[in-house]
Amino acid sequence: MNNNTKKVTPINKPLKGNFKVPSDKSISHRAAMFASLVHEPVLISNFSLGSDCLSTLSVLEALGVKIEFQSKNSLIINNKEGFKEPKNILDAGNSGTTIRLMTGILAGHDFYCVLTGDESLRKRPMARVISPLKEMGANIWARDNDTKAPVSIKGRKLQGINYNSPVASAQVKSSILLAGLHSEGITTVKEPVKSRDHTERMLEYLNANIMEQGTKVTIGASELVSKPITIPGDISSAAFFLVAGAIIADSEIIIQDVGLNPTRTGIIDVLKQMGAEIEILNQRVDCNEEIGDIKVNYSNLKAITIDSEIIPRIIDEIPIIAVAATQAEGTTIIKGAEELRHKESDRIKAVYTELKKLGAEIEEQPDGLIIHGKTKLKGGCTLETYHDHRIAMSAYIAGLIADSPIEINEFHWVNISFPEFTGILDKLSF
Ligand code: S3P
Repeated sequence: MNNNTKKVTPINKPLKGNFKVPSDKSISHRAAMFASLVHEPVLISNFSLGSDCLSTLSVLEALGVKIEFQSKNSLIINNKEGFKEPKNILDAGNSGTTIRLMTGILAGHDFYCVLTGDESLRKRPMARVISPLKEMGANIWARDNDTKAPVSIKGRKLQGINYNSPVASAQVKSSILLAGLHSEGITTVKEPVKSRDHTERMLEYLNANIMEQGTKVTIGASELVSKPITIPGDISSAAFFLVAGAIIADSEIIIQDVGLNPTRTGIIDVLKQMGAEIEILNQRVDCNEEIGDIKVNYSNLKAITIDSEIIPRIIDEIPIIAVAATQAEGTTIIKGAEELRHKESDRIKAVYTELKKLGAEIEEQPDGLIIHGKTKLKGGCTLETYHDHRIAMSAYIAGLIADSPIEINEFHWVNISFPEFTGILDKLSF
């Protein structure tokens, strides 16, 4: 067994307890980036310490931003003097949000820089942000005919754009809106289906000139103001426990202070539709984001059909929904999810390959998966993680309900968003 191989022993007890998940990754990235656009210090509390958000902090530091930790998860971002030309290449690591949003921000700043990332990030599509940014007048070049990182930028004044995005992608939408924040005129982005709207909500909270109307968002040049930002727990991390609680016999867990932005709560709708017993407690609003506690009890699940309308609201949860579907009575169909092929890994292929090894009755489709349940998963195999934290955690939950132990190679990818993942599981099943 190499250092990164994790053994998972099937669980023979229910999960019980109250706990918190790490801070929302999407909102943490935005908090750090947007705070750097304010000309006064900004206090951020409950920042995510997963390595993706640390990549954002190190990119900002290389651009001259001062970052001072006050305690483990709270920090002050100070960019009073504005970004400076970085002396070296900026490394976004494994993080699509870092590279795509920073490309939009840096396109409008008057200096030269290069953004790159790890092997997985350098395979992911960049043309989806580069081409609209070029339409705004940006000077951007990228590998493989302007489609892949490394991306080099010579920042300049941009022009607003009216952009009809072919994909429902919060990273694309945010990249253009952030460029629009420093452009002449108005920028409008329209999506085929609304993607997560953390950018819009946080920019509005910081007094930007921004308006959301259904699937359309409009922004004009704005001066952001300093306000404290508190980050809620990440519903995409909570999702692994929502499914574990629903499929491990007699479990009852409460996950506290989770972000419940309606553009992210598709996992709750899907699990409820599958018959899971889920309740929301203490719902409230903080820093323009809904937040609350989620209670889940073990339930008998039934298969459902999931199609394109809801996909953007469950885009990061489909691997763990597929694990739930192996335990649901009937045939679950997931379609309209081709975007999954462009994530940290090709998640359609990864989920199909790994669940198949566990004996799941699963079919791969160009735009999704078909899963016939309910199947007792079998252990005795070694699963792969494909440089993908969500595949690692989905594999782990599947291992908990297999009939014998499994091993997971390169499990360290979990640290991208959830370093405390196995520690929490151990406490809940103690
Ligand atoms: C993210 C948006 C989603 C999601 C990713 C984080 C963001 O991607 O998959 O993990 O922070 O904006 P797209 O909406 O771009 O598909």
